[in-house]
Parts: sequence; structure tokens; C-alpha cells
Amino acid sequence: MHLRIHDIGSYMLHNYLIETPQGWVVIDTGYAGAFDEYKKRLGALAPLDLVKYVFLTHAHNDHAGLLNELLKESGARLVAHEESLPRLACGENAMPEGIGFTSRMSATLSAMMKHASYPPVTPNADALILASEAEQPFLAMGLPIRVVFLPGHTADSIGLYLEETRELFCGDAAANAVIAPARQAVLMEDVAQFARSWDKIIALNPSRIYPSHGNPFAVDDLIKFRSKLDGLALFAPKKR
Ligand SMILES: [Fe+2]
Repeated sequence: MHLRIHDIGSYMLHNYLIETPQGWVVIDTGYAGAFDEYKKRLGALAPLDLVKYVFLTHAHNDHAGLLNELLKESGARLVAHEESLPRLACGENAMPEGIGFTSRMSATLSAMMKHASYPPVTPNADALILASEAEQPFLAMGLPIRVVFLPGHTADSIGLYLEETRELFCGDAAANAVIAPARQAVLMEDVAQFARSWDKIIALNPSRIYPSHGNPFAVDDLIKFRSKLDGLALFAPKKR
């Protein structure tokens, strides 16, 4: 089954879409306030009503900022981790105990940011809310798309793995961003969990990894940098 991959985002923040015989699967959205621009970019590819599923990799403001508007206007079904729900209801990035940044620069930059909030989201009754990997909504409908739980960046981090081409959309479970070192996410809620999720990705042996931030890269990068996660110390968030 040929699943076409599209990207209507940018190097800084990708907005990947997967074109399937059962409609389009949108991975994440963007920052609040950018829906008109988002619709323009999407509209150049496909009408909004072709979007059947919106897959949320985790409830951070740069991924969920347009979620409310997109779900309402497209009528698509949300696919999300159950731990995303209380976060989406708050419309604010969670800052649990122990959270920290992987570089001093990103800790400083984040303190300068005005807010990390977005319009709260209350999913419709038809949303597909996942409590474990035993639930595989796309496989169940005959699409070769597996949901992979990848906690660590956040507790609710999940990704999508295309089984036939072995491509992995990992959200922020890894990154290729200039402000984070060695394919790490800028922010981690739990370093040990983050490392275990890398072990899981390495065992999955994807042909290509598509992070939300930065260019796609090979799994060899995670193998190369994996040991840097052992005992990694984070930079505490600065007070705003
Ligand atoms: Fe994130």
C-alpha cells in the first residue's frame, strides 16, 4: 500500500500528513493563531474534509495550538494518548516535577517566551483515545500504520510507524534541532524514559526517522548518541 507523505510545515516545525486510501492523517498542528496560514498550506494540497484523522504526538503548544480549530473545521477524529487529555483540557504545557532542558540556551530561550498556552481542547465522543499500544486504530482499519508509545519528552508522547516503508514519525521523542544536542529533545520530563524510548526506536530499526523539529535522519544517529543519555543532567527551567 503506497502511503504518500506530505509536509506543509518548515524545518523548524514540520507538519507531516499521510495520504491513505481511507483519508488523510495529519500529524500535529502548529502554534495558536496560525490557523489561516495552516489552512492555506493544507488547501494547496487537499480540501479540509479529506482530513479524517488528526494524530497528536503530544500536548505541547507547538503541536496542539491549532488542534481545536482543525478538529472543528475538518470534522476529523482525534487520535491521542489518554494522558494528553488533562493537558489538552488545560491548554497549557505541563511542567511536572523533574522536567528540564537539555541545553542552557534552550532553558534561557524558553524563559524569554511569553507563554506556552493554546486554546484548550475537549475531544469529541468519536476521538480515539489510546491507553496502551494494544490499541492500534490504524492497523485495525487495515492501514499499515502502527502507533508507538515513546514517553520521556512528555508522558503522553507517541509516534507513528509506517510498517511497509519502516518510516517513523517520532514527534519530539528525538529531534534534529540546532538548539538541542545529539538528536535530543530540547525538553525532557523524564530522561530515563526518554532513553528507553530510544532503545525501543533502535530495536524497531526504522529506515528513516522524521522528527517534528529539524530534518529527517537515520537510526544510526540514535545508536551513535545513545550513551549520552545515560546519567544526563538537565537544566532546570528558569523562572518567568
Ligand atoms: Fe514538545
